[in-house]
Amino acid sequence: MESNGSVTSLRSTTRRRRIILFPLPFQGHINPMLQLANILHTHGFKITIIHAEYNSPNPSNYPHFTFKPIKDRFSEIAHQLATNPDASYFLTYLNKSCVDPFRDCLAGLLAEETVACVITDAGFYFTQAVADDLKLPRIVLRTSSLGCVLAYDALPFNSKKDCFNVTKQDSNYEASVPEYPLLKFKDIVKITTNPQGMGDLVTNMLNQLKASSGIIWNTFKELEESALETISQDFHVPSFTLGPFHKYFPASSSSLIEQDRTILKWLDKQPPKSVVYVSFGSVAHITESEFQEMAHGLANIELPFLWVVRPGMVAGTEWLQSLPEKFLERMGDRGRIVKWSPQQEVLAHPATGCFWTHNGWNSTLESICEGVPMICSPCFVDQPINARYVSDVWKIGVLLEDGLERVGIEMAIKRVMIDKEGEETRERISCLKEKVNLSLDEGGSSCLSLNNLVDYISSF
Ligand code: UDX
Repeated sequence: MESNGSVTSLRSTTRRRRIILFPLPFQGHINPMLQLANILHTHGFKITIIHAEYNSPNPSNYPHFTFKPIKDRFSEIAHQLATNPDASYFLTYLNKSCVDPFRDCLAGLLAEETVACVITDAGFYFTQAVADDLKLPRIVLRTSSLGCVLAYDALPFNSKKDCFNVTKQDSNYEASVPEYPLLKFKDIVKITTNPQGMGDLVTNMLNQLKASSGIIWNTFKELEESALETISQDFHVPSFTLGPFHKYFPASSSSLIEQDRTILKWLDKQPPKSVVYVSFGSVAHITESEFQEMAHGLANIELPFLWVVRPGMVAGTEWLQSLPEKFLERMGDRGRIVKWSPQQEVLAHPATGCFWTHNGWNSTLESICEGVPMICSPCFVDQPINARYVSDVWKIGVLLEDGLERVGIEMAIKRVMIDKEGEETRERISCLKEKVNLSLDEGGSSCLSLNNLVDYISSF
C-alpha cells in the first residue's frame, strides 16, 4: 500500500513536468502535434512549443502553452513550394537551417527548468543529435501511417534500376513492386520526383527513429495491427498508437487558413449522404487541365458537391480562373466551392456521402472516423501508399487509377455513391468507425497506449 501511494505521488509530481514539442511547419504536421500537446496537457504536463517562424501557429488559440519561435530561414525557399514537388528538398533544407536556432532555444529552456523530454516530428531527424548532446530523451511523433514507414523502409529509392521513372509505356507500369508488393510501379512514381533525395531523407529519418526513446503514431492498433508488430520487432523502441488524435481535440484551432463555416448551413439543406466532398489538403498542387477535368466530372454526376480549392492550388493561377466557362452559374445551388473548410465538421455532417481526397494521413483518418467512404486521388509522398491501403487492404474507397480525367471520375463517384459496391464499402468503413470508438473507450487500445505513454514520460 505504502509503496503504491509513493508511486502515485511521485507520478503526480513528475506529470507536472514540462514537455517541449517541435512540429514541422506544415498544416498536416502542425495539426497532430498540437493535438498531441493538448492530450498531454490534459494529463498534467506543462507544454512548450518550439516552432518555425514559417506557418507559425497562433499562440492566442493556446493560452495554456508557451510558444518559442525560432528563425528557420524557410521564407528564402518557400516561394518554390508551388512549383517544386520535391518534398525532400524542403525537408532537407529545414534539417540544416533549424539546427543552431533549435539547439540554442532548447539549451536555453533546459537552463530554466527540468524538462521530461522533447517530442519532435520524425521529419526533423536532426533533433536526435541535439537531444543526445543535451542529454534529453527524444520521443518522435510520426504523423503518417505505420504502413507508410514500412513501405519507405522497403522501397529501393537508391536503386540503379530507376524504378521511380517508370512510365505508362513501360511493361511494368501496372506491376507490383517486388520490395513492397501492395504497391505498383505506377504508385511509387508518384511518391517523389527525386528518388535519391527522398532515399537520403528516408534513411536519415528511419535511423533517427530507431535511435529515439520512443515513437508516437497517429493511428490506432486495430487498423494497422500487423504493421505495428513488424515495426515493434524491427525498430527496438517502444511504439505508442494512441490515435486518432483529432478524436480528443479537433484541428480547427491549429488551422492556418480561415475555415469557411457558411457551408455548414448549405450542407444542412442537402439530403442525407448525398454530397461529394472534395479536398486535396494543404500542400498538393494540380495542373489546370486536371482542375478542368475535375470540374467536368463533378458537373456530369449530377450530385451536390462541396469542393475545397485552396488559392494557389491550381498551378499558374490564383484561384478559380481556369474553371470551365459559366461553371458556377451552371451548377447553381448544387455545388459550392470554398477556399478552406471546417473539414472535420463537414465529414461528420449527415449530408456528406463520400470524400474525394488526396489521402493525406490526417484526411484519411478523419474520413475513417466519420465512416465516410473515399475516392482516392493521391498526389505525392505518403499519399499513394495511404491510397493503396484504403482501396486494396481496408477496401473503404475507390482509387482513381488513371489520374484526373472526367470519365474515370464519374465512374468512381458512381461506384461509391450509387452502385451496390458502394454500400459494401460504406459498411466496411462504418465497422472501422466503430473500432476507432472502441479503441478510445476506457480499456480500449488507444486509451491504454495513452496511459502507457504518460507513465513512460513520467518515468524519465
Ligand atoms: C501533409 C501531406 O500532404 C500528407 O500526405 C501527410 O500525411 C501529412 O502532411 P496535407 O496534404 O495537408 O498534409 O493533408 P492532411 O494530412 O490530410 O492534412 C490536412 C489537414 O487540414 C487535415 O487535418 C484537415 O482536416 C485540414 N483541412 C483540410 C481543413 O481544415 N480544411 C480543409 O479545407 C482541408
